[in-house]
Amino acid sequence: MTAVIDPRTLRSAFGSFLTGVTVVTANDPEGQPIGFTANSFTSVSLDPALLLVCLAKRSSNFAALTSAKGFAVNILAEDQEAVSNTFARPSEDRFATVGWRNGPYGSPVLDGAATWFDCAMHEVIDAGDHAILVGAIKAFEDAGTNGLGYARGAYVKPGTLGDAVAAAAQGEAVVGAVVERDSMILLLGPDEGPLTLPEAPIGEANDPQALRAFLFRTTGLPTHVGFVYSVYENRATRRQHIVYRCDAGLGDPATGRFFPLASAPLDRIADSPTRDLVRRFAAESALGNFSVYFGNEASGRTHPVGRKA
Ligand SMILES: Cc1cc2nc3c(=O)[nH]c(=O)nc-3n(C[C@H](O)[C@H](O)[C@H](O)COP(=O)(O)O)c2cc1C
Repeated sequence: MTAVIDPRTLRSAFGSFLTGVTVVTANDPEGQPIGFTANSFTSVSLDPALLLVCLAKRSSNFAALTSAKGFAVNILAEDQEAVSNTFARPSEDRFATVGWRNGPYGSPVLDGAATWFDCAMHEVIDAGDHAILVGAIKAFEDAGTNGLGYARGAYVKPGTLGDAVAAAAQGEAVVGAVVERDSMILLLGPDEGPLTLPEAPIGEANDPQALRAFLFRTTGLPTHVGFVYSVYENRATRRQHIVYRCDAGLGDPATGRFFPLASAPLDRIADSPTRDLVRRFAAESALGNFSVYFGNEASGRTHPVGRKA
């Protein structure tokens, strides 16, 4: 339990809530499309049809979004992780890399979204370092595809979990672990030679508890085993790999060492799917840890937030 509320710890605690990922869009006063990644979306009311999303006061588009006549919420599909990253990072033109058009009520709706809702601004409610945008849904379209998930700073894909089950059923699978601690990743191997992730045959780590026991046996580290991070087939060995995300507790590993994610020695990871996986993990972890979501510093700017009719 923590009685003193430290914003950083609070942000992590909020992160245990598994959410979907959306991109919220609108038009600025010049008619240019604007948008940002948000997982604070919530359905609110069926009749009238209302939804909400929370916007940080320090968003570069705060003034434009809170005064817009409407906004759209695009629920991202499982394969739109890159879109989420684009709309969560500073960029000259976030809309250059994704297909979009204006929805019936006028806000940009993104190609490939699992669902979009085009809304009129119903109410803007001041709430601490965020504002709550309540939208009155004017039109929506549901493509019927799976949504992208997000928990504890990482993406979660329902399809990947299904793939893991299928891979495990085929038998020819190994279970790997991306073990993280303080923005560092555990890699195994000699001081100078090639590095790998900790890996066990499926028989030794067929569920998270068994993987946890395997990691403790081999590295001596206590770990918390999170979600499946990746499932892939190594074409060279024809083996399925199921890789979990794990957080390590304190202590020196009995084997291998921790490398900073920001400068992970990718050139020493001989296996190319593993190299790609570590590269992706490093990029996402930076976003998860350092993204401004849930703004844990006091906002330097204060904007008057009014109520709209
Ligand atoms: C998965 C994810 C969810 C996010 N959810 C929100 C959110 O609900 N509200 C928010 O204000 N920022 C959220 N962010 C952070 C913004 O997307 C990010 O700060 C973005 O750069 C803001 O852009 P802007 O300043 O141009 O508006 C989230 C980021 C990620 C990666």
